[in-house]
Amino acid sequence: MKNFKGRDIIDIKDLSKEEILFVLKTAKRFDPEFVKKDRSNYEIAQGKIAGLLFFEPSTRTEQSFRAAAQKIGMGIIGFNDPESTSIHKGESFKDTIRIIDSYADVLILRHPQGGSAKEAAEVAEIPVINAGDGPNQHPTQTLLDLYTILKEAGKLDGITVALMGDLKYGRTVHALSLALSRFKVKQIFISHPKLKMPDEFTAILKSREVEYEEFDHLPQKFEADFLYQTRVQKERFGDLNEYKKIKDKFILDASFRKYLDQGVKLMHPLPRINEIDPTLDSHQNAIYFKQARNGLYVREALLALVLGRL
Ligand code: NCD
Repeated sequence: MKNFKGRDIIDIKDLSKEEILFVLKTAKRFDPEFVKKDRSNYEIAQGKIAGLLFFEPSTRTEQSFRAAAQKIGMGIIGFNDPESTSIHKGESFKDTIRIIDSYADVLILRHPQGGSAKEAAEVAEIPVINAGDGPNQHPTQTLLDLYTILKEAGKLDGITVALMGDLKYGRTVHALSLALSRFKVKQIFISHPKLKMPDEFTAILKSREVEYEEFDHLPQKFEADFLYQTRVQKERFGDLNEYKKIKDKFILDASFRKYLDQGVKLMHPLPRINEIDPTLDSHQNAIYFKQARNGLYVREALLALVLGRL
């Protein structure tokens, strides 16, 4: 399967089940848990340039893309403070994209506007990777989430995954739910009624005959293989009072340990604010830091694939 060369990664729906599995398999080539000998990968994309355009704050996504690009030999250009560029002088988004398009070999974009990655891909000739477009999607986060689930559970079919927190504005849960719907995974949604999974996503689950349930609280008898907790996305609320009313409703305190003891694995895309009690961190089934680490291997694989170097 060599059809990744030159391809944009904008919407997780564009990837078939086989393509998703191919990316996950390729990521294993970069994961020291699977590659025991200390093998350097810097020749894979030596001489290529990654253009990282971050119009919104980021820690993991930006830094892991930077690390991944350098690990496979790439150079890096770009910015994470658009105010330091000609955007400050009024340059349009499309013109900025056109310029980076002529300097880089792959463009990695994070932007507060849903649909911005698609818009960039229409202008750019080089592959565009969506690193989060507003409340819409975050497909590379999803690939690392799936990689983590696969590594931990040994399979994707036949499991139950619960998504909790901000299902309305959280782009990670949107893309993850769509990707899981390619597999035989039961999905459980847990959120405040005002932060439910939007219809546009549940409609797709229905059309794919996915089994899912919705709750407005963590059920007493909670049975799932994974619980994917998320942050309430303060920056997407029009009304901050509304945010304040909702933000502390779905917190996992120390009492969640009993579920971890029962084998539920706890994930989170991070950053977390107060929605996971840090005393849970030391539990072997709290896997959010492992999850973040996996992002490096998945992004190395994806960059190498869209550059046609694997
Ligand atoms: C997420 C994001 O930016 O959507 N973070 C990430 O990329 N790991 C989650 C969040 O900000 O809540």
